[in-house]
Amino acid sequence: MAIEAATIRIQRFNPDKDKKPYIETFELVPERDTTVLDALHTIKAERDGSLTFRRSCRHAICGSCAMNVNGQNILVCKTPLQDVLDKKRRTTIRPLPYLPIIKDLVVDRSSFWEQYLRVKPWLLPPADVPEKEFRVSPEEVAALNNAETCIMCGACYSACQVIGMNKEYIGPHALLKAFLRILDPRDMAPNERLQDLAGGDGVYRCHTIFNCIDACPKDLNPTQAIETLRKLAQKREAFESARQDRQLTIKDPIAFD
Ligand code: F3S
Ligand code: FES
Repeated sequence: MAIEAATIRIQRFNPDKDKKPYIETFELVPERDTTVLDALHTIKAERDGSLTFRRSCRHAICGSCAMNVNGQNILVCKTPLQDVLDKKRRTTIRPLPYLPIIKDLVVDRSSFWEQYLRVKPWLLPPADVPEKEFRVSPEEVAALNNAETCIMCGACYSACQVIGMNKEYIGPHALLKAFLRILDPRDMAPNERLQDLAGGDGVYRCHTIFNCIDACPKDLNPTQAIETLRKLAQKREAFESARQDRQLTIKDPIAFD
């Protein structure tokens, strides 16, 4: 059912003809269940085919549709338009902050992926891989604090003011992945990983600003993961041996000695 009209303000920028970004306004009569992404699709289909944005799954799984709406990084595919309209029924959509704009709402995420690769986000298994499967207990999975559900949307990365100042900082997304591997009992290189993360652009570069938590569409807690990594980095050897003995305290992975 169509409802009252809404005003959608969109930051536009075409590097081939614009000197700087500007805001363009579109009026739209949404349905009650229209999402922010639906609104962008309608504008592109009916008003301006050159409007450029990323999206794929439309189900909050692929992470490609993260944008900045009214100053907050969100996934536009899972956000109802009604939820982001102010009293005058207006909303403002911009690309993710702190990243170079390619066109309109599309940003260059190269630095995001470069930092991700830096933490070797893949599993480094032991030489003697078990004949059947690795056994991981439900408690060991619980200790990961859902970090495995991160969809790499970039919302946390581009909400972090440290990233705004310093693209060498590894960033909350990659540190969360590092946390996932370091606590994973199947991974054989936690000590080396912690050593790398204790370097200049790693865990100590985080200023505990908390924007990454506010931005995460999966309600994950990169700040807490970074804090855990800091503590583990300080007692690497004790952690290594507790981990080998599978004696980590599940609710508090740093309370092993
Ligand atoms: Fe940035 Fe999150 Fe740390 S916003 S400074 S990574 S707490
Ligand atoms: Fe895939 Fe939004 S389109 S997360």
